[in-house]
Amino acid sequence: MKNNYDKIARYYDLLSRLVFFKSQVNAQIDQLRYLPGKGRILIVGGGTGWILEEIAKVIPEGLHLVYVEISAKMMALSKERSVTGNTVEFVNLGIEDFSTDQPFDVICTPFLFDNFAEENAVMVFHHLDSMLRNGGLWFHTDFDLAVNKGRGDVRQPDNGDWWKTVFLALMYRFFKLVANVEASKLINMKPCFEAADYKVLEQKHYYRKFIQSLVLEKSGQKSID
Ligand SMILES: C[S@@+](CC[C@H](N)C(=O)[O-])C[C@H]1O[C@@H](n2cnc3c(N)ncnc32)[C@H](O)[C@@H]1O
Repeated sequence: MKNNYDKIARYYDLLSRLVFFKSQVNAQIDQLRYLPGKGRILIVGGGTGWILEEIAKVIPEGLHLVYVEISAKMMALSKERSVTGNTVEFVNLGIEDFSTDQPFDVICTPFLFDNFAEENAVMVFHHLDSMLRNGGLWFHTDFDLAVNKGRGDVRQPDNGDWWKTVFLALMYRFFKLVANVEASKLINMKPCFEAADYKVLEQKHYYRKFIQSLVLEKSGQKSID
């Protein structure tokens, strides 16, 4: 099976904190102030589920969370999390196989898209876009190699940032071995958001700009056409 984090589930958080300290965590926690007081939230690829406890600290009740995670081991760890007064629907499936006719108010994709080869990344983007209501928010967090030039960022790191390319190549090699991750290069998802007319409400960087978090709002203009 592709993208199977079962083998590494128990050690994933430790590894993340050892390598990135709290950057991966902070990039996701900082977005949570955009959460509404109530509503339907979709979390895709939440890993061990620590984000559920962080959400409960910010909004202790009133949210209906749908937690879609392909790894059975990650899912088992997530189910042990304290979610206070929020409700969580755990769905142990690849996001490609999940669908619903009830749109979401917020979709979170933390370090999800770095798993996919380009064709699947684009397919998953459109699939998720179809499940987000107009005016809904998308919390996107991932690695980033782009030099920020506004629309259509340039996809090469600055000269001093060569280490990011090396770091990513090593990570892809490692995750190919332990999780059979299908991707071998990072796909820039920003053009997808731009083409679908999402508005960036917040863009933040972490770990010397190797990690990017975006809070985006779906305008809905493109889907009306
Ligand atoms: C790099 S880990 C990130 C975990 C978590 N978001 C974090 O930051 O700690 C990627 C997660 O996405 C999950 N995943 C990968 N492909 C998936 C898919 N197609 N559908 C749902 N989850 C997926 C993996 O099982 C894994 O838990």
